[in-house]
Amino acid sequence: MTRSRIELGDVTPHNIKQLKKLNTVVFPVSYNEKFYKDVLEVGELAKLAYYNDIVVGAVCCRVDTSENSRRLYIMTLGCLSPYRRLGVGSTMVEHVLNHVRKDGHYDNVYLHVQVNNTGAIDFYKKFGFEIHETKKHYYKRIEPADAHVLQKNLRTAIPNGIAPCTQIEKSQNEKNHHDSKHNDKHNDKRA
Ligand SMILES: CC(C)(COP(=O)(O)OP(=O)(O)OC[C@H]1O[C@@H](n2cnc3c(N)ncnc32)[C@H](O)[C@@H]1OP(=O)(O)O)[C@@H](O)C(=O)NCCC(=O)NCCS
Repeated sequence: MTRSRIELGDVTPHNIKQLKKLNTVVFPVSYNEKFYKDVLEVGELAKLAYYNDIVVGAVCCRVDTSENSRRLYIMTLGCLSPYRRLGVGSTMVEHVLNHVRKDGHYDNVYLHVQVNNTGAIDFYKKFGFEIHETKKHYYKRIEPADAHVLQKNLRTAIPNGIAPCTQIEKSQNEKNHHDSKHNDKHNDKRA
């Protein structure tokens, strides 16, 4: 018996209809012509996933350079339900993470998920994504309308750009920690 094969392939004008069909089946939100036009321009940031030569999944991302940072936004990443839990989603996330690591100039990777999509949340947590914030009424036409922003940071935060934690900074950090605890208590009282 031959082993099951998962492969990724480019999105091209010849197969873009397969991507549209797949996204329509997998996501409750529909994407417009501009979305698909842009997807044809992003190279490695959009891929179809094949399971034994059948299209079963796709990932579409874009670069977000707003807010003084360079971030990769996963617009869609999905797999047809009969082919889930076979490693297709992981192959797509790993492709995206390898791409940003190789590039070396991204601050983070992020995406939105409906707050009740626990399967996707568990899936992304496996790859080091965390719930960064929750946006109320993010979706206009679906329920629940609230979305979590899942984010994986690619840079380690260095206070003041100074890497080693000197003794002076350490004691300052301890003081800040103490102060913030104090503030928390204060806030608790107000809540
Ligand atoms: C989320 C999604 C892409 C995962 O794809 P997948 O091909 O099933 O993922 P994998 O097989 O690579 O799963 C890897 C691991 O993630 C975790 N995981 C995946 N789906 C999960 C679920 N429904 N519940 C809990 N954990 C899950 C598991 O640990 C899994 O490993 P295991 O099967 O060995 O236990 C898929 O469920 C999907 O297409 N969902 C609909 C679209 C969507 O919600 N996309 C997210 C927003 S962009």
